[in-house]
Amino acid sequence: VADRSAARKPAGVSLEDSVTALFEGRQDLVADPYPTYARLREEAPVFVHGGVALVSRYADVETVFRDHVRFSSDPGGTRVAAALERLSPRQAELYREMNAFDSLFLTRIDDPQHSRMRGVVHKSFTPRVIAQMRERVQLMTDRLLRTMEGQGEVDFIESFAYRLPLQVINALLGVPDRDAELIRGWTAAIAAYRGSLKHLEEAHSSVIAWHEYAKELVARNRVKPATATMSAIVEAEASGTLSVEEVVAIFVILLIGGHETTTNLLATGLMRLHSHPEQWRALTDDLSLVPQTVEELVRYDVPVQALSRSAVTETELEGVSLAPGQSIVVLAGSANRDPSQFPDPDRLDIRRDPERHVGFGLGRHFCLGAYLARQEATAAFESLAGRYPRMTVDLAVEWRDNPHLRGLSRLGVDLHA
Ligand code: HEM
Repeated sequence: VADRSAARKPAGVSLEDSVTALFEGRQDLVADPYPTYARLREEAPVFVHGGVALVSRYADVETVFRDHVRFSSDPGGTRVAAALERLSPRQAELYREMNAFDSLFLTRIDDPQHSRMRGVVHKSFTPRVIAQMRERVQLMTDRLLRTMEGQGEVDFIESFAYRLPLQVINALLGVPDRDAELIRGWTAAIAAYRGSLKHLEEAHSSVIAWHEYAKELVARNRVKPATATMSAIVEAEASGTLSVEEVVAIFVILLIGGHETTTNLLATGLMRLHSHPEQWRALTDDLSLVPQTVEELVRYDVPVQALSRSAVTETELEGVSLAPGQSIVVLAGSANRDPSQFPDPDRLDIRRDPERHVGFGLGRHFCLGAYLARQEATAAFESLAGRYPRMTVDLAVEWRDNPHLRGLSRLGVDLHA
């Protein structure tokens, strides 16, 4: 068997340097982080770097996701300490405030608080409830695609990929469409900050604006809930199940979780299908492949590449001991390309069964919006492949410099319609 790792290894570059450059958002590495992940899996499956233990093998990623006793969703103290060392006193203050803001997000909390909070919105995202949204999602999809017809080349992200998910989550939460641009701007600033601390200032002002907006909107919903989801949230507050701060945190995480990720799935996914023309053709020939194509695209280029956890107790993983509070970053993007789970993992194959991918997480924090995201992506790819099989995509793409929430900055497409 050929030594694939040796073939992939860029000559003379240390693992430390590759990982540093990747997490600093270097364009070529964000465009293709997979050789670096492969090295991590092979050479240092638990690699402590910048105060954080990076976990890259599928089996370990699964353990960290599922073992809620040994691993917490609190991002842990060592990452904060390492970040604070690099920041000026003013930045450190902003950073602490950002952490306080995040601290009530579902993604960051453990039981019993997590079950209590998630339980309030769980019912709005079950497959049955989401199935009732199908027609509405299809209508939104149709309307957006129609505006792209006859336009020649347009930016798919601007015209479609950010709009559809935001329209859908806004509809679920009763957020006026006119506020979409505001929300997009705030979310983008926060997402950029998750990728790199250099976006701290901008993210901090966005958080302040977000908070004010969310408080106002929730106040209006207390008087007259706009949707069933908002009604469940404000009722939970009235009955004392949720505090005021928790209500705001749920509302914000639903809006954040509800669009940036799906935007990236739609745009990166479409780009990948077109850079593998035989796959695009297979899809246009047989639309029944759409649902499994969506899963394969989530596996192949998962929008959420990295997730935060920390060790609860003194624990060991791959022979590396982790002290309580040790920050951990789970590399879902690496687990989804682990050859121990997915034969020939770097091959995009819409006919494979990618069932075991961890693109939506695993365990108690499994993506609340997974069915919704699947439904949006199914409507989008079914309509694109079904109606515009001759569409073209400009494959000279640029990636945003965010290795955590990974996505393209622009995607030129021409529907040829
Ligand atoms: C392709 C699209 C999406 C991807 C790849 C994705 C990915 C993920 C992942 C990996 C997690 C687990 C976080 C963790 O374990 O720490 C998660 C959680 C979550 N997602 Fe998604 N997501 C997507 C779409 C959505 C949508 C459309 C919503 C809309 C409601 C949403 C809402 C959430 C929420 C609220 C959580 C937190 C759940 C919890 O911690 O209990 N996501 N998502």
